[in-house]
Amino acid sequence: MRVVHSPLALQKLLKEEQGSIGFVPTMGALHLGHRTLIDAAKKANDIVVVSIFVNPTQFLEGEDLDAYPRKEEADKKVCELSGVDYLFYPDAASMYGNDEVSLNAPNVRGYIMEGSSRPGHFSGVLTVVNKLLNIVTPTRAYFGKKDAQQLMLIETMVANLFMNVEIVPMDTVREKEGLAMSSRNAYLSEQERTESLNIIKSLHIATQLVMKGELSASQIKDEMIGILEPLEVEYVTIVNRSFEPIEVVEIGNTIILVEAISGTTRLLDNIWI
Ligand code: PAF
Repeated sequence: MRVVHSPLALQKLLKEEQGSIGFVPTMGALHLGHRTLIDAAKKANDIVVVSIFVNPTQFLEGEDLDAYPRKEEADKKVCELSGVDYLFYPDAASMYGNDEVSLNAPNVRGYIMEGSSRPGHFSGVLTVVNKLLNIVTPTRAYFGKKDAQQLMLIETMVANLFMNVEIVPMDTVREKEGLAMSSRNAYLSEQERTESLNIIKSLHIATQLVMKGELSASQIKDEMIGILEPLEVEYVTIVNRSFEPIEVVEIGNTIILVEAISGTTRLLDNIWI
């Protein structure tokens, strides 16, 4: 595995490669969820590139940019053992200049839900993912469905900017008790971890309600909010696959999303119905 720090050097190296490139962009602190993305990239492509970059532009003032878990050596080992060909490890100075061009998230879909709790977050995500895709020019890029809004916005960017890459959505990987894997789970105390399981419980109840024929979005949301206590609920939203809020669940075209705060940790999860 080659570890490359410079964007231009990586671009040059990858131009010389033959065959398909699978790309897994990450912010590090790699867990089983990331490994599932890497395995999928490995199966479908000749070359696998993983990036690790804690992107400053997607953190708002006062958020956890400095505290975000950084595990350079452990992450390198995970990549090596997973058969990654190139590990891209840039620093902020090489990725960003001064007074530069950046992308704006769409005015509506980029500023609802997580975009409303974190205004500007998705502009930072799209800017960095655009840069990363331009550097790596992958055949396929892999993203988790846990960050469903991020995934939808990246798909929208790729379509709107006519980018030549296939975005591959991957199912959420969960810890044994059902908590969706996230690098931020490391912040949770034992008690917070237990309380966080209310998120998956609420999503299971929502699924059961739908299976019993309850299709009213407001009824489902009310039930879920009751179960989420004592977590601080940022939102429970029911949308169609185009991320338009819906009143009535459409089976095969619905995503139920939750964002809740446990202690000081923001947790996201969702279920596709
Ligand atoms: O999901 C993430 O880890 C990040 O938002 C991403 C896509 C790597 C961009 O920094």
